[in-house]
Amino acid sequence: MTATICGTGSYIPSYTMDNNDIARLVETSDEWIRERTGVIRRHIIRDETTVSMAAEAAKRALEDAGVSPEELDLILVSTISSNVILPCAACEVQERLGAPRATCFDLSAACTGFILAYNTAFAYLNSGFGKTALIIGSESLSNLTNWKDRRTCILFGDGAGAAVLRAEEGTVYLPVTHSDGRKGEALTCKSRHDYNGLSDGHCRERPQDTPDEEYYMQMDGQAVFKFAVKSVPEVINEALELNHVSSGEISYYILHQANRRIIEAVARRLGEPMEKFPVNLQEYGNTSSASIPILLDEMNREGKLRKGQKLVLAGFGAGLTWGASIIEWHRCRTNEIK
Ligand code: UT7
Repeated sequence: MTATICGTGSYIPSYTMDNNDIARLVETSDEWIRERTGVIRRHIIRDETTVSMAAEAAKRALEDAGVSPEELDLILVSTISSNVILPCAACEVQERLGAPRATCFDLSAACTGFILAYNTAFAYLNSGFGKTALIIGSESLSNLTNWKDRRTCILFGDGAGAAVLRAEEGTVYLPVTHSDGRKGEALTCKSRHDYNGLSDGHCRERPQDTPDEEYYMQMDGQAVFKFAVKSVPEVINEALELNHVSSGEISYYILHQANRRIIEAVARRLGEPMEKFPVNLQEYGNTSSASIPILLDEMNREGKLRKGQKLVLAGFGAGLTWGASIIEWHRCRTNEIK
């Protein structure tokens, strides 16, 4: 039994900030950001929350799949930017959708999160533990961004993407994933819930000597860049070898959208043409665990995906974590070949 994607959806906030807007906040320029990252603008939440975006992306994915919320056995939300600690975002999405049968939980693995959500849902469905799953990546990274730090604020954006999976007969492709907690310092963000003004008297005060910056995302950009350029091609090759699939059989590599130069370097190292590496980070920036499902949804809705095509999904990020999964595109209501 395998898990096939039978519908996708996404939600993007309408409010945008382009590079010139960022250049009014920190010392940078449109030229520098475009050249070094490929990002031109990013979408930022106004009234939306991580949960509201997740629920909207989920509704669109369910509609695309022709699946009703009542059919869902599992709802997984991958996020590092949930609005609240409890309840988990997946339970809040369940409530908004009306999916009473679903088991719901969140998953936190930063930019590799959607890959791990897919793998987890795949393992559930493959083992007979349910038939229909909804996986979502949703992020309000603007809440975790230090808008005074030009090394990070140029990169990130907000949004959500979702996919509906069904247990179906078909080829099983095993995923490959890795983690290296020893390198966690490369990308960090301390929890703010102990001092963020929500205190009911039971919360600890923020230590006076802790600089504010630590409560926003902090990144050793070059270290993450080098890690990504080396480990992403490696893990993709591992997944291809493990499953006896050649790179020639892959139609698209759908990578986490962090930096255009990273995607180009991965393509070079794999010896594959850039045409196989769709890029949309110019419009959204880095949306962490939402980037892969947003891109997948765009490709689905643009009619770029065909039944039987093999795709590689690959993510990398904080933890450090990284991984690659091969999927075969099977059912796509908006683009089914008749
Ligand atoms: O989601 C997964 C996690 N994130 C990533 O994958 C991000 C990985 N890293 C990157 O994308 C890149 O490292 C960055 C885009 C963050 C930075 O690009 P870079 O080419 O590695 O720049 P750098 O840090 O080596 O800095 C080069 C220069 C420095 O000046 P000096 O020391 O050469 O005079 C920086 O101070 O550029 C300067 N700089 C900037 N200048 C204008 C750094 N940020 C900026 C900026 N605008 N925003």
